[in-house]
Amino acid sequence: MTAVSASAPGKIILFGEHAVVYGRPAIAVPVTQVSARVVVSPFPQGEPGQALVQAPDIGLHTELDHLASDHPIRRAITLAFTELGITHPIAFRLRVASTIPVAAGLGSGAAVTVAILRALSDFLRAPLADEHISALTFEVEKLHHGTPSGIDNTVVTFGAPVYFIRDQPIVRLRVGARFTIVIADTGVQSPTALTVGDVRRAWQADPQTYEAMFDAAGEIAQKSRRAIEAGEIEALGPLMDANHEILQRMGVSSPELDGLVAQARLAGALGAKLSGGGRGGNMIALVDPQTAQNVADALLAVGAKRTIITTVPMGA
Ligand code: PMV
Repeated sequence: MTAVSASAPGKIILFGEHAVVYGRPAIAVPVTQVSARVVVSPFPQGEPGQALVQAPDIGLHTELDHLASDHPIRRAITLAFTELGITHPIAFRLRVASTIPVAAGLGSGAAVTVAILRALSDFLRAPLADEHISALTFEVEKLHHGTPSGIDNTVVTFGAPVYFIRDQPIVRLRVGARFTIVIADTGVQSPTALTVGDVRRAWQADPQTYEAMFDAAGEIAQKSRRAIEAGEIEALGPLMDANHEILQRMGVSSPELDGLVAQARLAGALGAKLSGGGRGGNMIALVDPQTAQNVADALLAVGAKRTIITTVPMGA
């Protein structure tokens, strides 16, 4: 057997985070500038069933059996074995490397899992279909998110823009005209499970107010879908601004996110919002391609830790 590799992109949520957990639509797109890559190779010195796991980015170098049973990497590998009906695989080494910032709303956990499942199933000569990869990744996402909606595993597996509604068939989004987004990292790590849990408690305490906010976010996602399909990119700016304002009211923004959002608008962005779980992680700004670098520089000048300029290409 020879070494096999697979990779998976990062992602951003353009519209509808949090409300998507409650059945409203959301829109997400892959971010190919960052990715997770997994290489699985034979381990000839090992016993059957023995696996070495290496993830140098997080200082991990251990045997699979030594990882906690709820470690996401172990969970991904054991789910793949179960799905493939494999009890004693040949010994292998699995190496994970990722350029996707962790706990920043860019889908790093989902991308690592997708890349593990693809590389491992290819290595074992039983490649899993995308639907299976996505479903298994959803199971692992529960370790990160508690009650994930399924949007991260879907967009990362399919590597295409999606209009996503929980428990409904995936709708790939047709993009009528390309558009450019600046992504800026606050540098504040914020586990999604925390904000998702806080929103749940707030919703339980005041269901009426929160349902109304989820409805408003869902309507924004619907309008945005139409604008993206029609190639009416300028319409997306105000929709982003409106979505950010709802996320503020949901209690998932932060001074750092609000500061970057305000700065992006000042620097000429057409609209801006936080993206993902919130409280930290990344914000996104819709820009004209000519002003992208200016906006990115303005965000770095006020404290963004890194920026990524990404273009969502036209297409099906
Ligand atoms: O992984 P993140 O931080 O982009 O957050 C996912 C989006 C949420 O709607 C907050 C949670 C979910 O599972 O959809």
